Amino acid sequence: MARTRLPPHEVADLALSPVGASRIAWAGGQMPVLARIRARLRSERPLDGVRVGACLHVTAETANLVLALADGGAHVALCSANPLSTQDDVAAALVYEHGIEVRALRGEDVDTYVRHVRAVLDGKPQVTVDDGADLLVTAHALGGEGLGEIIGGTEETTTGLVRLRRLEGEGKLSCPVLAVNEARTERALNDRHGTGQSALDGIIQASHVLLAGHTFVVMGYGWAGLGIAERARGAGAAVVVCEIDPLRALEARMAGYEVMPALEAAERGDVFVTVTGSRRVLRGEHFARMKDGAVLANAGHFDVELDLDELRALAVDVRDVRPLIEQYTLEDGRRLNLLARGRVVNLAAGEGHPAAVMDVSFALQALCVEDLVRRRGERSPGVQPVPESIDQEVATLKLAALGVTIDEPTEEQRHYRESWT
Ligand SMILES: NC(=O)c1ccc[n+]([C@@H]2O[C@H](COP(=O)([O-])OP(=O)(O)OC[C@H]3O[C@@H](n4cnc5c(N)ncnc54)[C@H](O)[C@@H]3O)[C@@H](O)[C@H]2O)c1
Repeated sequence: MARTRLPPHEVADLALSPVGASRIAWAGGQMPVLARIRARLRSERPLDGVRVGACLHVTAETANLVLALADGGAHVALCSANPLSTQDDVAAALVYEHGIEVRALRGEDVDTYVRHVRAVLDGKPQVTVDDGADLLVTAHALGGEGLGEIIGGTEETTTGLVRLRRLEGEGKLSCPVLAVNEARTERALNDRHGTGQSALDGIIQASHVLLAGHTFVVMGYGWAGLGIAERARGAGAAVVVCEIDPLRALEARMAGYEVMPALEAAERGDVFVTVTGSRRVLRGEHFARMKDGAVLANAGHFDVELDLDELRALAVDVRDVRPLIEQYTLEDGRRLNLLARGRVVNLAAGEGHPAAVMDVSFALQALCVEDLVRRRGERSPGVQPVPESIDQEVATLKLAALGVTIDEPTEEQRHYRESWT
């Protein structure tokens, strides 16, 4: 149902709208939890007139979240959290079919990206929904009266929370932020299973490598790294983990992986994935030791985990050998294959997390936005956990959607758990 008056927008091509619309519908079909919440929001309209600014990957799954918030009464303005993940057809459909304000172009340059973030902030959002904290961090950097209007924000990823906690540490965070990324349901489904499956999917789609029989190095064994390591092992790879945290390293060892320093792993690996949230995790000294044909990918949020300047400096030749692979030839003839220019591989080379995973993340997001609005003024500024009741509700709805039922504790068991004797 196209509209005659379109909202402010900057998308690649509105003619892509029908393709985007069917993509949104397909994803929606795999997001039953969000659909249930959307139906309730539509009838209760708790977000009536609330301005929501969202800086998220502009994908079919995100579109379903945006539509749920809009059905709850919100006015949503959306920009992209990563220039390479935007699905232009989805962006077009959101504008053309649903009247949502979208500014996102696949492959947009940094200036355009920044302009889009600022345009969303110009709309003076009352609630921000971030994936990487660009919206909220920029709002704080700009200051001004817009900041005072923000009721609160939600944050989808680890890197965003790190930035926001730094802001809070300096006493500058001026609103509450719900750490969606740290909700129990989010950790279990999104970081582990979502990243695990989609990072491998991106690597395989881009490079067509066989994992079985090869050595797969995971740099960073957080929730995301754990998921990637599990999937790579499941595909038959010999998995090596590199860590800097002794506890995480111990967990990886106890899970049966080889654990070693990066310099050693550099000589062993056929495929490398960085997923640390840090920078220059693989750099010149590592590249110099790698085998001919090694594949390099990053699944961390920012494209700073592989030191591309040092890779370039070591190379005598750089060429595109497949659509998403740049091959760097070193002086002695060894070739290193960089996937998706070191950007987050599951989104830049694959389709990102499956919709059934984003169902949980965006159900959490929708309930957190609603909670921020319903309890406006009750929370003090700072990064805060998602309320336990929201986590429980999402887990319960997801189990129901999967057709799984579980036991309830008996009265006797409840008493036993609660009694100090
Ligand atoms: N691609 C995706 O879909 C996706 C999903 C979730 C998280 N992420 C991103 O992935 C990154 C990691 O997320 P997480 O939730 O697993 O974080 P986390 O903090 O739980 O784990 C990161 C791990 O990396 C380790 N590490 C840090 N520096 C290292 C180094 N130099 N060498 C080896 N290990 C090192 C840390 O000790 C930690 O155990 C973040 O940037 C996050 O935003 C991406």
